[in-house]
Amino acid sequence: MFLIYSYAEDALILSIFVLLFYGGCTVAVAKNATFPALLVFGDSIVDTGTNNYIPTIIKCDFEPYGRDFQGGKPTGRFSNGKVPSDIAGEIYGIKELLPPYLDPYLQLEDLLTGVSFASGGARYDPLTAKVVSVLSLTDQLQLFMEYKEKIKLALGEEQIAAFISKAVFFICVGSADIVNTYYATMLRSFEYDIDSYTNLTVSYGAQFFQELYRLGARRVLVLGVPMLGCIPIQRTLGGGARRVCADKQNHAALLFNSKLSSQIASIKNNLPEFKIVYFDTYYPFLYILQNAEKLGFEVANRGCCGAGNIEVSILCTRLHDLETCKDASKFVFWDSYHPTEKTYRILTNMVLNEHPQELL
Ligand SMILES: *[C@@H]1O[C@H](CO)[C@@H](O)[C@H](O)[C@H]1NC(C)=O
Ligand SMILES: *[C@@H]1O[C@H](CO)[C@@H](O)[C@H](O)[C@H]1NC(C)=O
Repeated sequence: MFLIYSYAEDALILSIFVLLFYGGCTVAVAKNATFPALLVFGDSIVDTGTNNYIPTIIKCDFEPYGRDFQGGKPTGRFSNGKVPSDIAGEIYGIKELLPPYLDPYLQLEDLLTGVSFASGGARYDPLTAKVVSVLSLTDQLQLFMEYKEKIKLALGEEQIAAFISKAVFFICVGSADIVNTYYATMLRSFEYDIDSYTNLTVSYGAQFFQELYRLGARRVLVLGVPMLGCIPIQRTLGGGARRVCADKQNHAALLFNSKLSSQIASIKNNLPEFKIVYFDTYYPFLYILQNAEKLGFEVANRGCCGAGNIEVSILCTRLHDLETCKDASKFVFWDSYHPTEKTYRILTNMVLNEHPQELL
């Protein structure tokens, strides 16, 4: 990890990853297809279009979302291009794009190489998925059970357990618990301080991971939350006139991550055959913000869409075309909440290189 950190130039970083994945020892992972499938659960960072199929206002299946996706196509991905679920599929050599499970046109082959169950707005805390009517983690698990039934018809009862145990489960959720549920809507902050709220959130996480285990998952990677205080909307809401990073949210993110990682370590201790690994995103994110210029970014404190201070989802539309940036690759953030594809690429590569062997 630190070796990679010391190379500042984007091109260099990317070529190192190419080397690692196509030239070095980890190449074996991708090429002999250790992981037959990638199954993704979580929130808007890894939603590849789920919310297009459910009645919620948390959507982005309109322009300018997807502006750089295969020549310009809004697909329900909360970015200008690909999102980490697609990029992880590429890195693991599984496939280029990870479709949402709810896509009615999926073929058996699509199911057998993996799908995303993630839903923008999802949280660990079940209270609020209901409030914004997106798929909670429990709903996502229910879809996963349905998924298992479908592929069981193809693989047969015997093969299904082996297949599920070899698939990689990629979990990315938690940001909305902190920035939305706790700080923005204050749905929980009357009852809980941030210390007890992060305990509560992590305990829901533990239930979710154990449920995944019960359903057959054996290789699970769980992302922590990034520097939430530095996303544009938090700078706008909590960063004062100069829109500096909001300390409270950054502190909450660190607190949450430390509890999540110890919870995961303790689950792993109790279940030796469960390869569940915590991947930090906070410090890789900090690295990107601190080295934004060297990585080719020009703007790191507001999103490309509109003025970039508050625009996200239905607030980010073509109505703001005049203000929207021309070249998203110069921006760390696409909207006031979500990174650009370029940032996601750097981040996903850094993160997945953190523990390349632990899922094997
Ligand atoms: C993948 O290939 C590498 C190198 O050829 C080998 O060491 C490893 O055991 C293989 N893994 C599997 C699961 O076949
Ligand atoms: C949070 O959990 C930790 C570890 O279980 C415990 O020591 C601490 O007292 C809890 N904090 C609150 C406020 O409940």
